[in-house]
Amino acid sequence: MTSSYGLHGRAALVTGGTRGIGREVARQLADAGALVCVTARDREDVRRTAAELGGVGLAGSVADPAHPRALVDLALRAFGRLDIVINNAATNQPYGPLVDVDPQRWREAFTVNVEAPLRLVQAAWRGWMREHGGSVVNVCTEGAGHVGPNVGAYGTSKAALLHLTQQLAGELAPTVRVNSVSPGLVRTEMARFVWEKGPVELPLGRIGEPEDIARAVVWLVSDAAEWITGADLLVDGGTRVRAAHPGGYAVHERLRSSAPPPS
Ligand SMILES: NC(=O)c1ccc[n+]([C@@H]2O[C@H](COP(=O)([O-])OP(=O)(O)OC[C@H]3O[C@@H](n4cnc5c(N)ncnc54)[C@H](OP(=O)(O)O)[C@@H]3O)[C@@H](O)[C@H]2O)c1
Repeated sequence: MTSSYGLHGRAALVTGGTRGIGREVARQLADAGALVCVTARDREDVRRTAAELGGVGLAGSVADPAHPRALVDLALRAFGRLDIVINNAATNQPYGPLVDVDPQRWREAFTVNVEAPLRLVQAAWRGWMREHGGSVVNVCTEGAGHVGPNVGAYGTSKAALLHLTQQLAGELAPTVRVNSVSPGLVRTEMARFVWEKGPVELPLGRIGEPEDIARAVVWLVSDAAEWITGADLLVDGGTRVRAAHPGGYAVHERLRSSAPPPS
């Protein structure tokens, strides 16, 4: 059961809210009493998720420069307020060594993973939060703290998102808190190519479930975390501290030997 954390009647916008981590964040926010607006590219998934959560949704890609503003407008029209923004949608493409990467595809990763979160925060700030306050969580990755095989575009763009989080936290305080949550390996479609090959041993014994990440996100946007901004909350089952733990680490081996399907 999720604590309400005082979220009753607050309005939240979740990108990538139809699957995996984003879907669970949206569900837990709705459970805690928040009004939820979701977005993703698949129209039917958006329609179904919004209906299931008693909220609203708008299909589209966060890479479309007009989409963030349209989302904020929808949330304000539907709920009359926008207190919470979760920048969760991301791409792990292009996959492979950066030395061979097509710069256009590299730019797409930055458009989705960095530029879209900035545009959404800008739209939320101008449309509501500058006057009324609010809270933002950007979903980054444990992998942003180090390099890894074939994930250079993803890791570099997520490292930029971490920096963006801190920059915006400084610029928008005390009105809006901006934090990030950095998951380790979580059982979702995006990471299927890593976990479906077999068990991955982590210091806390298992890979993550979307619920593990969503609980951290919901806490961080709530007033229970009212004195926290510019922070990155690592939710990784001990991945970052694995070097001091007896046992191997299969993830990098999987990244070398398999690849995600093209998005
Ligand atoms: N899973 C992990 O192991 C892991 C680890 C570290 C960090 N993360 C981060 O966690 C976040 C969520 O990932 P996930 O694993 O939950 O992925 P997921 O299960 O593949 O879900 C991704 C969600 O984002 C939507 N989406 C993707 N591209 C989009 C776009 N351009 N515009 C709008 N919506 C888009 C997808 O729907 P549509 O396809 O319909 O658009 C879907 O709702 C990401 O930021 C990811 O980097 C995941």
